[in-house]
Amino acid sequence: MTIKYELYNEDCVAGARKHLADDSIDLIITDPPYGIDGHKLHKHYNRDEGYVLDGYIEVPETEYPEFSKGWIKEASRVLRPGGSIYIVSGYSNLRHILNALAATPLEEKNHIIWKYNFGVYTKTKFVSSHYHILFYTKPGGRHSFNTYSRFGPHERTGQEGSLNYQDREDVWVINRKYKPGQPKNKNELPTHLLIKMLQYSSNQGDTVCDFFLGSFSTAKVAIAMNRNACGFELSKATYKHQIGSMERIEPGELLSRLRTPEEHLLYNQGKPWSEDELEQLLSSFETLRLNGLSKKESIQRLTADMGRGYFALMNALKRSGA
Ligand SMILES: C[S@@+](CC[C@H](N)C(=O)[O-])C[C@H]1O[C@@H](n2cnc3c(N)ncnc32)[C@H](O)[C@@H]1O
Repeated sequence: MTIKYELYNEDCVAGARKHLADDSIDLIITDPPYGIDGHKLHKHYNRDEGYVLDGYIEVPETEYPEFSKGWIKEASRVLRPGGSIYIVSGYSNLRHILNALAATPLEEKNHIIWKYNFGVYTKTKFVSSHYHILFYTKPGGRHSFNTYSRFGPHERTGQEGSLNYQDREDVWVINRKYKPGQPKNKNELPTHLLIKMLQYSSNQGDTVCDFFLGSFSTAKVAIAMNRNACGFELSKATYKHQIGSMERIEPGELLSRLRTPEEHLLYNQGKPWSEDELEQLLSSFETLRLNGLSKKESIQRLTADMGRGYFALMNALKRSGA
């Protein structure tokens, strides 16, 4: 598999129109500028701004509604039917992003809260230590959601319950990178956060786009997970600072270090079927078929849930007359 990247030093709307065909992108992960006036922005961080790289391009607060509509419309155009988008947003301009999303055909899947450390320090109100992540998909196709890509359906530790369930709750606690004394981009997204979105919502060989590259974090992690990457960064200084480092990313280099299910997915293989199990198989199969999945797709989906292989499921369904 040949993995490619196409990263442009251009405005994302003009760049997408020029370089990206309709329905061509499997997944967009992006973190637009905040739309907070420059002189107020540092108040949102408890850190030494001297180490933050120059070149970040902000959008004036008054232009934020139109700005959001423009790029989100383009994002919706380039996503393939069934493609997914994750937009990271602070709370200040969240309403404009939600309004812009509502003006597209994109469908909401989750409104995720990302809780992080190093919140904005305040004395006269609560400390803000979360972002919003809006997870939407484009209708017209099946979206990739790799339910068991990280934790198997029966993985547990002690009293904590299902690890798969916990990992799929819509509040994510993932700390931001603390890089004291090191150059950093404003709001660089943590690798673990990107890995999580990429594992659940894309597959090797897919194309992943970031409309606001910043430190190119999405593109770097995507390549390291064997996905193709594309994207845009308007700032010349930021682009120049990051583009050279792309060559050092080895396609697929992260794959062997990812959290993958520890248990054998076919944990029921060879065991006799119980009545309850057969009933569960039939009702889940029927539901998937009613949701428009083909016979083959439905059986493939159910193998992990049932802990049995494709042919075992197919034979059990045949025997039951389904
Ligand atoms: C919040 S940062 C992205 C941070 C990035 N996710 C990371 O992990 O480093 C937003 C970036 O968008 C860039 N930007 C602003 N307006 C843009 C536009 N119209 N097109 C493309 N990039 C833009 C800014 O210069 C900034 O680098």
